[in-house]
Amino acid sequence: MRALVLTSSPKEKEYSVTQVLASQFAKGMREAGADVEGYDLTRMNIKHCMGCGACSTVTNGHCIIKDEMTEILYTKFIEADVVVLASPIYFGMLNAVMKNFIERLFPYLDPKQIAKGDMVVQNFRGPFPKIVAISAASWHKSHAFMQMSAYLKYLFDDKLIAELYRGNSDAILFSPVYADKKDEILEAAFKAGEELAKTNAISQDTIEKVSQDLDDLEKVVSLHNLNMKLSQEEKVTIQQYIKNRLHDHGRVLPKSVESFVEYVELFFKPKGEDTDTDFSAQFVFNGDEKKYCFFDIKNGKLTSSMEKSPTADITLKSSFETISAIVGHKASLMEEIMNGRVIVKGKIDELNRVGTYLLME
Ligand SMILES: Cc1cc2nc3c(=O)[nH]c(=O)nc-3n(C[C@H](O)[C@H](O)[C@H](O)COP(=O)(O)O)c2cc1C
Repeated sequence: MRALVLTSSPKEKEYSVTQVLASQFAKGMREAGADVEGYDLTRMNIKHCMGCGACSTVTNGHCIIKDEMTEILYTKFIEADVVVLASPIYFGMLNAVMKNFIERLFPYLDPKQIAKGDMVVQNFRGPFPKIVAISAASWHKSHAFMQMSAYLKYLFDDKLIAELYRGNSDAILFSPVYADKKDEILEAAFKAGEELAKTNAISQDTIEKVSQDLDDLEKVVSLHNLNMKLSQEEKVTIQQYIKNRLHDHGRVLPKSVESFVEYVELFFKPKGEDTDTDFSAQFVFNGDEKKYCFFDIKNGKLTSSMEKSPTADITLKSSFETISAIVGHKASLMEEIMNGRVIVKGKIDELNRVGTYLLME
């Protein structure tokens, strides 16, 4: 099998979900013996269709534009048995880079129109490859790919043989939270490529593994929102934020008390007996503006507030930066207590649980 893989995400390769999925898919195809070539459309000189109609008339099937579409891709496209179109979803559709490529397929459209009922039909002419679609979107799969899927079916009809869609795409890059799921998804993308090369089809089971839910949607969305908030606080792009997190082994450095509280709420995991016993803790942050937060764990459930509480079992006073550094594993709670940067009052015995459940030590 001869395959052509075309990607259209402008992101750096390892931070683009469509690129990562497409490259796994290509690996799987190669492993199964296919001859695979890949091109990143964002790095190619591909002009837009001028609508001149020369390809329908004077040149009969040949585009007159001189660019890398005519120099490279038309030949590769027509020689391929399968073409993989891997595009991100931008505003509900495959992106403009991919659409631009698709519009340049006009020379392959038979200029002859056929009247069918109240419709005008025009078919592709000559040899035409099978099409596989890969896409990623940050919304849920239930609605993120509707337009793209309908469009590709309308356009390619029975030539479209498989669609691999990955919703909640940003979350799979926020390693290590969904690291296990990410591995499963990438394995499934590899398997999809293998299956296609071996059997000319991709099983429903494999397609579903690629698009499987990561978690409860509320949680995935909260994680997305928290990561957005943290990257706004760090004043970095989401791509840079992900790079920083990978560098810190996924550790988050909250920059505000609000995001610290959200982080604890999102990642609080009761670990059986230890959290069966109720306890509460408050943080008092010194600085220009005094801020507080309070966590109460009852029956393994956590509630929080931005208030101070006279009933807290244990109180920790420090600068917010010190607590943020502990959460980010850049400092340890015990050391910060020893050197006086964190002052503890109340039930000292609860320090271990504060470290484990609230500061993610
Ligand atoms: C301009 C723009 C528009 C987007 N529109 C949507 C959208 O309509 N629906 C959605 O679920 N995600 C949308 N996204 C998010 C991307 O689809 C998502 O980040 C995806 O992972 C991009 O693929 P990539 O990682 O391969 O670049 C949009 C992103 C950008 C930059």
